[in-house]
Amino acid sequence: MPAPPSRPVVASSRADLAEAVRSPAGGVALVPTMGALHDGHASLMRVARARVGSGPVVVSVFVNPLQFGPGEDLDRYPRTFDADLDVCAAEGVDVVFAPSVDEVYPGGDPQVTVDPGPLAGVLEGAVRPGHFAGVLTVVAKLFGLVRPDLAVFGEKDYQQLTLIRRMAADLCLGVEVVGAATQREDDGLAMSSRNRYLDPEERRRAIALSEALYAARAAAAVTSRPAVALAAAQEVLGRAAGVQPDYLVLTDPALQPLPEEVAADTEARALVAARVGGTRLIDNLAVRFATSGDRTGDDSLPT
Ligand code: PAF
Repeated sequence: MPAPPSRPVVASSRADLAEAVRSPAGGVALVPTMGALHDGHASLMRVARARVGSGPVVVSVFVNPLQFGPGEDLDRYPRTFDADLDVCAAEGVDVVFAPSVDEVYPGGDPQVTVDPGPLAGVLEGAVRPGHFAGVLTVVAKLFGLVRPDLAVFGEKDYQQLTLIRRMAADLCLGVEVVGAATQREDDGLAMSSRNRYLDPEERRRAIALSEALYAARAAAAVTSRPAVALAAAQEVLGRAAGVQPDYLVLTDPALQPLPEEVAADTEARALVAARVGGTRLIDNLAVRFATSGDRTGDDSLPT
């Protein structure tokens, strides 16, 4: 029988963390999470490991109150620390940084926060005011606490990833921000900690989000008009019972509007947010336009 994987060091204070993480030659990788870890998070850990080799991989587990608005799910957000440690152990994580709220925000809410700029006013930011200021502030603090050389974030939260990249560049934080591909269930649903809120009927309905995105991808492969690809996605989402869309858009990769007509091979992003029962889900997909009529890339739903 193989020996069980060794458990990561658990650090809950800044002093523990400094003791546990000493800067090695290969660099330090950070995977920031809010816990409730699933295979999607495990894939981020694998990306981190591939980048730093035998250097330390640090996973932070911290449910950040600053990024939850009034009436959001801060109190009921799943907290599964023991199971999270098992996931980290199985992936060979060296350190789990699991600070208390007081450790991250001594003295209460910070007086200085990160202003995420105009991109935080659209899509998720339009529905969740203050959310991205909370995300960027805690990520900046985690960068300061852990001092990683690189940090890995999922493409699943595409607007978040875009804003974190922008913050690292605009504020010269010296941390490489690495995006990792969204992991999907067999039927296409993007893996998310919030999927566990779904009852079986809602879980079935939730597939409409990824189906809509894949419809946009398939349509984009044979048109040069973003509106045509978007209409294909809207059609799929529109006929899904029990799914209330917040937004469904096609943008350029930097989340800026696309022109009416695009050149062959233009890259774009389809993004969706919708409520399924009491649960708000988001998803997104890379899309490539073609003018030749030839399909490019894999336009089909995962089987
Ligand atoms: O994506 C998340 O889990 C969180 O927004 C993050 C990046 C860990 C910041 O709290």
